[in-house]
Amino acid sequence: MTSPGLFLSFEGIDGAGKSTHITQLVAQLRERGRQVVHTREPGGTTLAESLRALVLHEPMDALTEALLVFAARRDHLQQVIEPALARGDVVISDRFTDATFAYQGAGRGFDTAILGQLEQWVQGGEHGIRQPDITVLFEVPPTVAAERLAAAREADRFEALPLAFFERVAAGYAARAVAAPERFVRINGNQAPEAVWTDLHTALTARGL
Ligand code: TYD
Repeated sequence: MTSPGLFLSFEGIDGAGKSTHITQLVAQLRERGRQVVHTREPGGTTLAESLRALVLHEPMDALTEALLVFAARRDHLQQVIEPALARGDVVISDRFTDATFAYQGAGRGFDTAILGQLEQWVQGGEHGIRQPDITVLFEVPPTVAAERLAAAREADRFEALPLAFFERVAAGYAARAVAAPERFVRINGNQAPEAVWTDLHTALTARGL
């Protein structure tokens, strides 16, 4: 789907380190005079943030989880993402639909054909399915990510899941990246933060940002 703006999503397992680099990128783009909308999923609107709190903290089955993240996404797209892209802004979202395929699909084992249908309903429009123009995937071994999380904070419902879950999620992300190489930028997150930033900067510059 074409629009004047640019849509970037950032993905990776919990503890991959994407948030720090998103903040740095947003600041750099703003310094260069770009209008940037920095947002996240699930979330980004009042309604979607309420749904996020439920998804992250209330026990539920995988279909309920999928319906809630897509409901949040629908509101987020309508209220924030589409208007920003129509204005010509850069939208940077901390996670988008690849997270649903990785967490609910690969991680929880939920039927990806149903996720594909929900994606079509929620992101479909007259010009096709809305997808990020660029998706940056931070890749770190699940053991490294788990060590970082344990040092950092109290776990939410996903972060408390066992290592095997994150191995499936990481494999799910990798499969998405292989299926859409033109959209994905894969970054080795298992390096010093400065080296990660350099790789990110080089990759995005190569893509014209
Ligand atoms: P995260 O993005 O890691 O935020 P924070 O850094 O504040 O913890 O947390 C969001 C969690 O939601 C993460 O564990 C992945 C999960 N999630 C899904 O399971 N499905 C989805 O579609 C999305 C967008 C996120």
